[in-house]
Amino acid sequence: MFRILPFLILEVQLYLIRAFFTVEVPQLRYIAEYGSNITMECRFPVDGQLNLKDLSVSWAQKELEEQKSKEVYTLQKGEEDLKSQHSDFKGRATLLRDKLNLGSSVLQITNVKLTDKGSYLCLIDYRGADYKYVTLEVKASYARINVQKISEPEEEELILTCQSEGFPLAEVFWKNEKNLIVNESVNTTYTLTTDGLYNISSMLTFKPNTSENYSCTFWNKELNAETSYIFTLAQKSVSHVGRQSLILFIIPTCVIAVILISALIIFLKRKSLSKLHAKKDNKRKYPWLHKEDHRDLTPQTQDLIMANVKDSSDCTEV
Ligand SMILES: *[C@@H]1O[C@H](CO)[C@@H](O)[C@H](O)[C@H]1NC(C)=O
Ligand SMILES: *[C@@H]1O[C@H](CO)[C@@H](O)[C@H](O)[C@H]1NC(C)=O
Ligand SMILES: *[C@@H]1O[C@H](CO)[C@@H](O)[C@H](O)[C@H]1NC(C)=O
Ligand SMILES: *[C@@H]1O[C@H](CO)[C@@H](O)[C@H](O)[C@H]1NC(C)=O
Ligand SMILES: *[C@@H]1O[C@H](CO)[C@@H](O)[C@H](O)[C@H]1NC(C)=O
Repeated sequence: MFRILPFLILEVQLYLIRAFFTVEVPQLRYIAEYGSNITMECRFPVDGQLNLKDLSVSWAQKELEEQKSKEVYTLQKGEEDLKSQHSDFKGRATLLRDKLNLGSSVLQITNVKLTDKGSYLCLIDYRGADYKYVTLEVKASYARINVQKISEPEEEELILTCQSEGFPLAEVFWKNEKNLIVNESVNTTYTLTTDGLYNISSMLTFKPNTSENYSCTFWNKELNAETSYIFTLAQKSVSHVGRQSLILFIIPTCVIAVILISALIIFLKRKSLSKLHAKKDNKRKYPWLHKEDHRDLTPQTQDLIMANVKDSSDCTEV
């Protein structure tokens, strides 16, 4: 009886391990930026060393409104099996193999598209089977705002346009310096791009009589995120500031230049004067010294004469 008991306990433990093979998810909900890469994870128990041959992993996407599911990635008995992978994920879905040893099934999807949103089933078969769901949301912030500024001098009107793409649909606000929302004469329209993004264009038409700055803001209500572009209309004051700073720059530059030039002139004058003096002195002391005077002699002879003269001058000084 006492011998059987430990065996019994072991049996029960094994049974429990098999029965309670559970897949768990550290994170239920993921949010990915359009065009970015995302990894989603589910965990399964690995007792010691992983035996890859016993492991099968399946990731499938189930779009919220649709009943059908798309195969994202399959690992069949340790081997990648992409025969029935859905074309939407071709070349974009992989399983991070090095994480499997730790009992972690990490699915990576690159270049996330809007159609990637939905629920993802993570099914693990490894000495027991279980599955869990995680959800993926995809957002696209209106990060790049393209602008246009057209002035109509005849009507004294200015037309400002802001255009950007993103998801979900954003509202566009126009503001001036005092943060007053300019409602009138705003025309905002949108179309859908082939990728399912909203392509929003907003046009503000107005008669500018102040030198205020105007801005357009794309407000993504669902994500509570916003991006803005500020139009600088204050041309008068800008060019004024520009001229002032130009003057501030030119004057010191001129002063410095004048000082430098004068210094150079003085320096050159002094140099030529001292040379002249030296020449005159030399001429006075040694009238034969000048090279011009020995134009018909070879340079060597000239140098010889100079050397001799120097020697003799040294002598005379001594
Ligand atoms: C996404 O992953 C791919 C392949 O691993 C890589 O080339 C690319 O630079 C990544 N993109 C971003 C935005 O991290
Ligand atoms: C807004 O602009 C679109 C085209 O950009 C135009 O078809 C529509 O008539 C405009 N709406 C108003 C109220 O001006
Ligand atoms: C978005 O709409 C603008 C016109 O409103 C168009 O010029 C631009 O090509 C569109 N962009 C895309 C990606 O559809
Ligand atoms: C011009 O600005 C003044 C105040 O600065 C305002 O009272 C007036 O309505 C503006 N005119 C136009 C045409 O916007
Ligand atoms: C308009 O914007 C420019 C540049 O951002 C800024 O230097 C200037 O002070 C703004 N003008 C007003 C009236 O606030």
